[in-house]
Amino acid sequence: MNDKLKKEYKSKLKQFNLYNKNYYEKNHPIVADYEFDKLKKEILDLEKKYKFLKNDKSPSVIVGYKPSKTFEKFSHKIPMLSLSNAFDEKDLVNFEKKIINYLNKKINLQYSVEPKIDGISASLLYVNKKFVTGVSRGDGKIGEIITENLKTIKDIPLEIKNSSFPNEIEIRGEVFIEKNDFLKLKDQFANPRNAASGSLRQKNPDVTKKMPLNFIAYTFGYISNNYFKSQSDFLNELKKWGFKTNNNNKVLNSIKELIKFHKMFEETRFDLDYDIDGLVYKVNDLNLQNRLGFTSNAPRWAIAHKFSADSGTTKILNIDIQVGRTGALTPVAKVEPVNIGGVVVSNATLHNEDEIARKDIRIGDIIKIERAGDVIPHVIEVEKKKRTPGSKKFVFPLKCPSCGSETIKDYNKITKKFDAVRRCTNEGFECERIAIEKIKHFISKEALNIDGLGKKVVEKFWELNLIKKPQDIFNLNYSKILDMEGWGKLSVNNLISSIEKSKEVSLQRFIYSIGIRHIGIENAKLIGDNLKNISNFIEIIKQKNFDKFLNIDGIGDTQVNSLKNFFSNRLNTNIVIELNSILKIKSTKINKSGVLKNKTFLFTGKLEGISRAEIKSLIEKNAGTTLSTVNKNLNYLVIGEKPTKKKIEQAKNFRVKIIKLDELQKLLNVT
Ligand code: IVH
Repeated sequence: MNDKLKKEYKSKLKQFNLYNKNYYEKNHPIVADYEFDKLKKEILDLEKKYKFLKNDKSPSVIVGYKPSKTFEKFSHKIPMLSLSNAFDEKDLVNFEKKIINYLNKKINLQYSVEPKIDGISASLLYVNKKFVTGVSRGDGKIGEIITENLKTIKDIPLEIKNSSFPNEIEIRGEVFIEKNDFLKLKDQFANPRNAASGSLRQKNPDVTKKMPLNFIAYTFGYISNNYFKSQSDFLNELKKWGFKTNNNNKVLNSIKELIKFHKMFEETRFDLDYDIDGLVYKVNDLNLQNRLGFTSNAPRWAIAHKFSADSGTTKILNIDIQVGRTGALTPVAKVEPVNIGGVVVSNATLHNEDEIARKDIRIGDIIKIERAGDVIPHVIEVEKKKRTPGSKKFVFPLKCPSCGSETIKDYNKITKKFDAVRRCTNEGFECERIAIEKIKHFISKEALNIDGLGKKVVEKFWELNLIKKPQDIFNLNYSKILDMEGWGKLSVNNLISSIEKSKEVSLQRFIYSIGIRHIGIENAKLIGDNLKNISNFIEIIKQKNFDKFLNIDGIGDTQVNSLKNFFSNRLNTNIVIELNSILKIKSTKINKSGVLKNKTFLFTGKLEGISRAEIKSLIEKNAGTTLSTVNKNLNYLVIGEKPTKKKIEQAKNFRVKIIKLDELQKLLNVT
């Protein structure tokens, strides 16, 4: 009976997704609205009756608002980044420790505490007190212009009357639907967040207008004259200007207070009219925020303290071994589908070989799994008492399940321990799973960012032999794609244009996109900034002169060994060379305007009142460079307390200028 049901459900779903694609992505409905709605209702009814059917392709999860290509794009002046997460006191202590290290000063931090509403963020640009452009977050750098839709939200003032309002300001906040209002929409959307996002991205603002959307403001992007001293001052000002702010916002003075408030709030959060998934803590002092700045994807000065996760109990049906981009073998438990906090879960990560051994996780075990936000569910407990007699310990494969290569566990010289993760020793495209994952990485947002070529499409194109290496993307057989189910003229044209667009890429993005282990966004930036152009990079890898990377401040043995390893595979080197002939890899722009242009610096000893990371970022902001060794290219050796004698001697030999921190600060005009 179940099989028959599943078959019926699947076929309805397939039909529905085809209608959906034609309607939303191709702007070309192939059935009448009535048919479309009828089929959707049939699917939802089936799901309601047989809960196990629901999956992530269901119309209750996917709503027809896939990034529509019809919205105009907008580059955020200040990126809309995400927040790092904290789950417990240890994470918060760590967060504060990092801030204090960065500022290199022991201070008592004050925090602006704000409920983290689970909605969709939007940025509202006001010029001369008028709301002129409203933008979605998009990928954080480029959003979509949804001004007309945002204008339908009553909480968003179209004009500001207050005289203190800046000439130009981007006000950012959350668009959301209240729990009560959602009850009327629950047949159409999986949760209030999806409902908000779906309504905001309607092509027709009249549809948006009918949705009960709200807006709460909490931060700013660009401001023409920023005179605010603290986040809490800014929040107060927002209220005066006529924006809604959260009336549970608070200022607290220590981690102890944060924890106490979090505990209390976690219990009472269900009384709120809207869903929240945690609290946001922001360093209140805007001057400190400014000094702390951002990492590549989140501010150093804020963190989201999540509420505890939902959990559920289920059975392990099987254990699959997935091979990741860097060869890591990750065991994944396939579990009996279980509904956890409104989402049907059928996979849970088991992390690595050691974790399975430590928890003695076996196929057939009854386990408790936890799911928090978008994080992949994980096992928190094995109910050993419920284990069936005769169950066997799980034997972790010693050969790569994808290519059969040897697998190894790295030895960490510092901790003197073997890594918990087992890896396939194949560094390149000979291992099918690694190759597919590398291609997925290559097209991802932070890499070449090829819209329309998602992970699933990569898998499909791999199967059909259309893509086997990254460079194949630029030589696709479009007539074959056009004949494939689900593809039409419009979608193929969109794909062609986004592939074309991706060809122009910065050096740092390109280095990141290659997918070398230990070369993430930050390290790719360090290498890109230092080598300036792709020819220098190719020169090093051709000559196998990898030690040159050691000259880059921030790049150490781990990264250099990984680069060596990666390029020991001839195929990898060839891929980079070939890609260089296809792409237009832009040289790193040299910051021409800074006072430290063409000047290089190296530090020795402890610097008073400022961290290495901060001074380094100040030097770079002013067009200077930091080096990691004393050599003939060095201009200044900056000495702090207890400097290394050897460095001073070497500096003298090279006639490098030796200065103290305050002299550098004078050069920079900061004290
Ligand atoms: S501050 C760079 N404040 O959380 C600072 N975000 O994970 C990021 N959010 O995209 C924004 N409430 O959608 C901030 N009081 C709050 C927030 C908040 C909810 C959401 C927002 C953002 C996401 C970051």
